[in-house]
Amino acid sequence: VVPKLVPAVLEEEEVVVDPTKVKVTVFFGTQTGTAEGFAKALAEEIKARYEKAVVKVVDLDDYAADDDQYEEKLKKETLAFFMVATYGDGEPTDNAARFYKWFGEEKEREPWLQQFTYGVFGLGNRQYEHFNKIGKVIDEQLFEQGAKRIVPLGLGDDDQCIEDDFATWRDQLWPELDQILRSEDDANSASTPYTAAILEYRVVFHDSEETSYEDKQFSMTNGNTSYDIHHPCIVNVAVQRELHTPESDRSCIHLEFNISGTGINYETGDHAGVYAENCDETVEEAAKLLGQPLDLQFSIHANKEDGTSLGGSLPPPFPGPCSLRTALARYADLLNPPRKAALVALAAHASEPSEAERLKFLSSPQGKDDYSQWVVGSQRSLLEVMTEFPSAKPPLGVFFAAIAPRLPPRYYSISSSSRFVPNSVHVTCALVYGPTPIGRIHKGVCSTWMKNAVPLERSCDCSKAPIFIRSSNFKLPADPSIPIIMIGPGTGLAPFRGFLQERLVLKEEGAELGPALLFFGCRNRRMDFIYEDELNNFVNQGVISELIVAFSREGPQKEYVQHKMTEKAAQFWSLISQEGYLYVCGDAKGMARDVHRTLHTIVQEQEKVDSSKAEAIVKKLQMDGRYLRDVW
Ligand code: 2AM
Repeated sequence: VVPKLVPAVLEEEEVVVDPTKVKVTVFFGTQTGTAEGFAKALAEEIKARYEKAVVKVVDLDDYAADDDQYEEKLKKETLAFFMVATYGDGEPTDNAARFYKWFGEEKEREPWLQQFTYGVFGLGNRQYEHFNKIGKVIDEQLFEQGAKRIVPLGLGDDDQCIEDDFATWRDQLWPELDQILRSEDDANSASTPYTAAILEYRVVFHDSEETSYEDKQFSMTNGNTSYDIHHPCIVNVAVQRELHTPESDRSCIHLEFNISGTGINYETGDHAGVYAENCDETVEEAAKLLGQPLDLQFSIHANKEDGTSLGGSLPPPFPGPCSLRTALARYADLLNPPRKAALVALAAHASEPSEAERLKFLSSPQGKDDYSQWVVGSQRSLLEVMTEFPSAKPPLGVFFAAIAPRLPPRYYSISSSSRFVPNSVHVTCALVYGPTPIGRIHKGVCSTWMKNAVPLERSCDCSKAPIFIRSSNFKLPADPSIPIIMIGPGTGLAPFRGFLQERLVLKEEGAELGPALLFFGCRNRRMDFIYEDELNNFVNQGVISELIVAFSREGPQKEYVQHKMTEKAAQFWSLISQEGYLYVCGDAKGMARDVHRTLHTIVQEQEKVDSSKAEAIVKKLQMDGRYLRDVW
């Protein structure tokens, strides 16, 4: 069935109302920029293929200023696409959270989207339990509201090659769009291959004498009334210390950011987003590969000299002028494997024909297996790939637009209580350090930065980072007398340290504290029992009623937190049954999944019910907000 489309209802700002045009909206819910990139690429291709289409790319958060507007505005859409990512424990991205909540709320109404034709492409990772949950929910809901699905839901899997999933989904779309958007003049039908233009900023070079942006710091800066991902606040590192003992061959950093006088507010259980920098070694190597000096001063622009837009789907430029050193340190993701689109851009700037050919092959459908083994499977970083193709020297405008993605902020569960240390945000970060399959030592960008951070307690010239707070629903019960159970092995302990500090404050204020069990897990008590003294103090102060620790590498057999849960099943379930709250924090793929299964078994055995009844009980706990997870 060919859906009937009403002529485009154009926004106020679009003055020309042309009844022959059709409005197409591409929404995105993005965290690290991939969904946004796909949305822009889709929009570009629709524009290139169909004369009739008036395409807009829209951030779901910017779409409606308040929730009431969503319904009104969506009713006016006729053809829309949703590129939406799923994060953590099946959550929407920050910029899609408000839309998702509003959209998912039960509303009494007739199907109200009968004029609406749509397609959804989800971005997720199959390793996680709630694979592409957000895409699935939006796709289903739209369908239930009477909208017409133009293509089956696309399930992008970042564990494999998500660009291929996106390409496959798009290829299904063109024959359908041909039917509704194609006019006689359009040259590119569904069967015509389309090649995206390589994105490029306009670059302006500056004298090194000019005051560089680094000294001005006006965009990523303090002075805002509220800070967010786009407006972080630069704060000092006040304290930094190693939490593992010298016996350990790994590292875990405790870091305190000083937020006094900044206006930053947080609640216990929130997350901190941290913009770290690439280390000098990485930055120097990148500059060498680009064949440019580190002190080169430049700025990038998404418009032409006459002020008109460059077109294309360029990400917003970073502030400048700045030195190449700063640009590479702060804004370029250099250590992840490059996307196929990056290889295409590199190929276009490789002077050696054999290198250009090989790069093109790796990004082509025929080179799929090579890409998946040689690039992804080997975890070859962008820099390693560039090293193998020395003739590829892209200009900076191409490098920052199409090759190196923007370095995203990293999120940490805050490990302090805002009531205990109001002037400080603490984070607890395990160092990411280890060999890749081809022998490079991979050093995580943010954890390495934290490991090398110089705190104010050691030097006046201390490290600084732009940070912001992301609120979460991982919160203590309002009534402190309600029992709580916390499960957090490794750095999963972080938010619970905050919870316990908070309980200490409450106790000192005279509150009656309910029972609190803490399940912690680490390898060996002599190496990685982080915050051991603090936890013992919390026990002595009556803030924890019982501290239960599983040591995985002390005895002949692995002991994990879930084994301890099983040993304590009766007590565990009795606390939850007294209106208790259960919190789990840490690794989503292994630990949280296993803990979830164990919980299910405990419910089944303690309640003497079958598996499906136990599942319903666990679901109910989740729905009631009494089983909360902060997992990554
Ligand atoms: P391991 O490294 O010895 O396997 C913190 O990382 C602790 O969590 C470590 O003791 C680690 O044990 C343990 N851990 C690893 N996988 C786990 C899982 N699936 N469930 C629970 N704990 C796990």
